[in-house]
Amino acid sequence: MFTRLLYLLILCVAGGVPAMAAPAAEPVLLFGATGQLGSEIARELVAAGHPVTAFVRAGSDRSRLGDLPVQFVVGDLLAQDDVTRALAGARYRIVIDASARGGAADDFYPRAMRHIVTAARAHGAPRMLLHGSVGAGENMALFPQAPFGRMAATLAAKGEAEKILEDSGLDWAIIRNGILMPAGTPATGKAVLSADQRLMRSVTRADLARLTVECLAAEDCFGHVWHAVDESLPFPDRYR
Ligand SMILES: NC(=O)c1ccc[n+]([C@@H]2O[C@H](COP(=O)([O-])OP(=O)(O)OC[C@H]3O[C@@H](n4cnc5c(N)ncnc54)[C@H](OP(=O)(O)O)[C@@H]3O)[C@@H](O)[C@H]2O)c1
Repeated sequence: MFTRLLYLLILCVAGGVPAMAAPAAEPVLLFGATGQLGSEIARELVAAGHPVTAFVRAGSDRSRLGDLPVQFVVGDLLAQDDVTRALAGARYRIVIDASARGGAADDFYPRAMRHIVTAARAHGAPRMLLHGSVGAGENMALFPQAPFGRMAATLAAKGEAEKILEDSGLDWAIIRNGILMPAGTPATGKAVLSADQRLMRSVTRADLARLTVECLAAEDCFGHVWHAVDESLPFPDRYR
């Protein structure tokens, strides 16, 4: 209890997400649920009482979800019909995208986002939270020292996806991560969401999952781009 109060105090002092409202256990459709980040988010959502539907591909390995009590809907984010069918199947209040392109081309990100936004608008899912990347789109210019290299094209595509979401008319939130710690790194409990888009730091997926669920319950998390920041973790010098 004391740790939680301390955390809230740190959030307020750090200018992060404002004090939380009572958690609303609304139904969530989760893209990327079988992934390293998505499965952590699924676990946190279930713990917070949200009914969760995981959008998975026919061949997705569901093992990271273990025996979590989630529903499944099968489809491909690159197929508009699949995404539309998923959104039409139930009244989701919240959509979360924690997908990553894997071996697909960079245009995975704008294509998938267009499909989600089209379906969400058609079927009345009002809120959409996207997990994005520090450096996406115009944000890249704030990190001239960062050796993005091949990632620059991916970040441009991620920026396009963010823009599609911001222009969608949905109630949106974007949580960008900088350097992700290796999957399975335990949560530190010290990550916060910062509105300072000049910050690039490390973060664990477990902490990102907690921040995701807290964002859903916060008064003022939506309508903003956040950078997930954990000052307790190491950060590579070459990005400074
Ligand atoms: N900054 C960093 O250091 C860093 C490093 C890695 C990732 N990231 C970013 O962090 C976020 C999460 O990454 P992650 O590594 O946790 O992801 P991940 O483990 O690679 O998981 C990706 C998820 O997306 C799903 N997916 C991919 N293509 C799909 C499609 N066509 N249709 C439906 N689902 C599809 C995958 O499904 P399957 O199970 O079917 O494959 C999987 O569930 C992403 O935004 C990623 O770009 C950042």
